[in-house]
Amino acid sequence: MKVAVSGFKGRMGHEVVKTILKEEGLELIAVLDHKPKEKNICEIAEFSTVDVPVYSDLATMLEESKPDCVVDFTTPKVGYNNTKTIIEHGVRAVVGTTGFQAEQIAELRKMAEAKKIGAVIAPNFAVGAVLMMQFAQKAAKYFPNVEIIELHHDNKLDAPSGTAVKTAEMMAEVRDYVKQGAEEEVELIEGARGGEFEGMRIHSVRLPGLVAHQEVIFGAEGQGLTLRHDSYDRVSFMSGVALAVRKTKELETLIYGLENILD
Ligand SMILES: NC(=O)c1ccc[n+]([C@@H]2O[C@H](COP(=O)([O-])OP(=O)(O)OC[C@H]3O[C@@H](n4cnc5c(N)ncnc54)[C@H](O)[C@@H]3O)[C@@H](O)[C@H]2O)c1
Repeated sequence: MKVAVSGFKGRMGHEVVKTILKEEGLELIAVLDHKPKEKNICEIAEFSTVDVPVYSDLATMLEESKPDCVVDFTTPKVGYNNTKTIIEHGVRAVVGTTGFQAEQIAELRKMAEAKKIGAVIAPNFAVGAVLMMQFAQKAAKYFPNVEIIELHHDNKLDAPSGTAVKTAEMMAEVRDYVKQGAEEEVELIEGARGGEFEGMRIHSVRLPGLVAHQEVIFGAEGQGLTLRHDSYDRVSFMSGVALAVRKTKELETLIYGLENILD
């Protein structure tokens, strides 16, 4: 499969390039970033033996290099438009960029189905994180009192994380609505109780040194349950990305969430 990587100079994109280069059956044919100074990836010391053109415009890359699939790890601001452009060109998409609204995903799914194009958008490509979300959904049925604390590096642009939102959405499907905290509670400092999603509270921590971490804390009479997942290194996302790239070949729709393509 001919694969192009969008956002290749970013923290995730760089890891994706290394993965595509070593995965059997996947061929890196083009890379894209915002105003890159390189014309070919071989100008980067680490990739000096690799001959792959660098693009600064997505449509040009799609038209000239004709990839089978584009992996996009860019920024929440451009993720939606990039995915739209990729699908409009009849190319399969694997998108790890976060910040999508539910309506945007629904619209992109319609486009993918109309074009019979496979696409996967996942806010978290780490299998352990997906398991954490599934365990959280199972627990939320019995423990409706729950708060999420997500912790990320301090260059992250969106809050809360896509993983936290997805976890809350999955719990909301099975959880009896409960508004966390005392009815008369007052925030002495604005935001102290975090963001609210269907009565659940989500807290975002941003610190240097962190990668991607999340705790889902359940409380009930006389007992507590805490689920925690840690991505210590971005390599934790790569087996999920490679799986999604291969999976797009079998799909004629857009799948949201790695859990929906795991066997
Ligand atoms: N799904 C997952 O498993 C997962 C894991 C970690 C991070 N993320 C998300 O992935 C995204 C990227 O994260 P990161 O840490 O690599 O960010 P980053 O800032 O290190 O990298 C983003 C890259 O995208 C490039 N870019 C910006 N606009 C572009 C455009 N229009 N076209 C092409 N490239 C463009 C930037 O120049 C940069 O190189 C974020 O949304 C982040 O939340 C997802």
